[in-house]
Amino acid sequence: MTSEATATHIAAQKAAEDFRRVKKVTTHTLQEMKQARVKIAMLTAYDFSLARILDDAGVDVILVGDSASNVMAGHETTLPITLDQMVYHAASVVRAVRRALVVVDLPFGSYQGNSKEALNSAIRIMKEAGAHAVKLEGGREVKESVERIVAAGVPVMGHLGLTPQSIYKFGTYVVRATDPAEANRLREDALLLEQSGCFALVLEKIPAALGAEVSSLLKIPTIGIGAGAACDGQVLVLHDMLGINQEFKPRFLRRYLNLYDSIKDAVHRYCDDVKQGSFPAPHEQY
Ligand code: KIV
Repeated sequence: MTSEATATHIAAQKAAEDFRRVKKVTTHTLQEMKQARVKIAMLTAYDFSLARILDDAGVDVILVGDSASNVMAGHETTLPITLDQMVYHAASVVRAVRRALVVVDLPFGSYQGNSKEALNSAIRIMKEAGAHAVKLEGGREVKESVERIVAAGVPVMGHLGLTPQSIYKFGTYVVRATDPAEANRLREDALLLEQSGCFALVLEKIPAALGAEVSSLLKIPTIGIGAGAACDGQVLVLHDMLGINQEFKPRFLRRYLNLYDSIKDAVHRYCDDVKQGSFPAPHEQY
């Protein structure tokens, strides 16, 4: 490394350290992180215990994603989860979190009807769960809803690219916006969402070059999932990155643990101990 590169590296590490010391992450913190080129770490959570671990570990944003429909409830898609169920998951997460910004997905069917319906759903999430922001999927078709929710004082995160609530329209989970027309529509939608007041934008499963282009086009931060390294932050579904979920293996997923095997092994050992009578031992009894 040249001395100039070393100095830049040290300055970047110091900036990241300063943001780690922030007591409460807000939408303004995320904006400042983009300006300071400090990457934003976001993960999903759906319950109190794991949300507390994520928050203690220093994750910046916790997303109560509608992926709860898949990983918590076992549905094939995100479509069946209800607003009541999202409120339940979100309230559990909010009770655990002291530092991170908690963003909650508006579930399918709770905002597509019209902007009043969208606002009412956002208000329920904020009021009943105590969330800090909501996320919704789509571009120009949700512009009016974004504006109305933001005007009511609720921060909105957008979501473009592969939007799982539209899976039956796409017909497949392949990479989106690989053709020029769809890429162009995505660029336009990203700018429109920024103008409508979104504070950040999730980009899911699009070419890395397009992720980079949109990230430099926008003033608000982009959070990528399969959208390349140039996004201002990254998000993964917690159960996927912990290896609880074994079947889901997209290229963008990095597994940090194989929790499926660890849990299975622990449960095997417990069952053996119970059956052999070695649990509970004398010191584990009253
Ligand atoms: O629901 C979810 O987990 C999401 C992420 C994949 C971004 O929307």
